[in-house]
Amino acid sequence: MLLGDRVRWHDVELVTEPDDVDAALLVAVVREGRTTLLGRGDPDGVVRLVARRVAGLSARGAPALVDWMSLPRGVVVDEPTLDASGLAPFSTWDWMVTDEAPARVPVEDAVVPLDPTVDADAIRACLAESNPGTTAQPTGPDEAAWFGVRDGAVLAGVVGAARRGARTPGALSWHLHGLGVRPTARGRGLGAALTATATRAGLAAGASWVSLGLYADNDAARRIYRRLGYVTEGEFASFGPPGARRPPT
Ligand SMILES: CC(C)(COP(=O)(O)OP(=O)(O)OC[C@H]1O[C@@H](n2cnc3c(N)ncnc32)[C@H](O)[C@@H]1OP(=O)(O)O)[C@@H](O)C(=O)NCCC(=O)NCCS
Repeated sequence: MLLGDRVRWHDVELVTEPDDVDAALLVAVVREGRTTLLGRGDPDGVVRLVARRVAGLSARGAPALVDWMSLPRGVVVDEPTLDASGLAPFSTWDWMVTDEAPARVPVEDAVVPLDPTVDADAIRACLAESNPGTTAQPTGPDEAAWFGVRDGAVLAGVVGAARRGARTPGALSWHLHGLGVRPTARGRGLGAALTATATRAGLAAGASWVSLGLYADNDAARRIYRRLGYVTEGEFASFGPPGARRPPT
């Protein structure tokens, strides 16, 4: 996850325990003036790192406010730390990855590549009905590909993929996002077919792995991903500004 995301880090601070750098890691990424914290490793250790960062900033009279924070699930963050960070609990979510091409699934013949520019309005219309909470945008700067299933003039379902990094500089991974099937078209295999096609396309394009994120309570999506070979590599609790409606991209 960190290896994939680091191509987007230009301004980053790493916080570790001086005497145990392997136990827990906190990454503070500044993007467009907004700070996002991402913790990995031992939950108690990560919480200590968050508290230490807040205390260090406060001691220097600097604001400890962050825009978003994802920590290993199971963390208990105390109220003063959340208040100083300007955060409230937002969601629980999982990170899944595969590096093996899935076998073909039924109805994959219906899946076609989309043009993220020409089909942008149709993709947005499909997402507005099928996955209104997504932050995925067909015209985003890192988009690698979009796929869809056409139903006359509209799209019954779509999925997109963004380019991310991998283990070595210049290496590539794909991150799937914006999977949505219109409610009337669900339960016919389209979600699985879209995900299988996009996963295989990413690996064929040279991605070292394909990743995706899902809310922890999305069992319907998790069953599809598991059947296609995805494994859970991280379980997170995330925190955002009070009243936030969606996470950052
Ligand atoms: C998650 C989502 C994309 C799944 O789309 P879908 O097209 O219904 O997915 P599928 O049809 O491939 O699979 C759904 C179920 O239908 C079953 N199914 C597939 N084809 C079938 C068929 N011909 N007959 C009967 N059942 C079938 C699948 O086995 C699966 O069963 P399961 O729930 O027991 O695992 C869709 O529910 C959706 O858009 N949800 C809202 C947005 C969302 O959550 N996106 C994912 C974000 S991570």
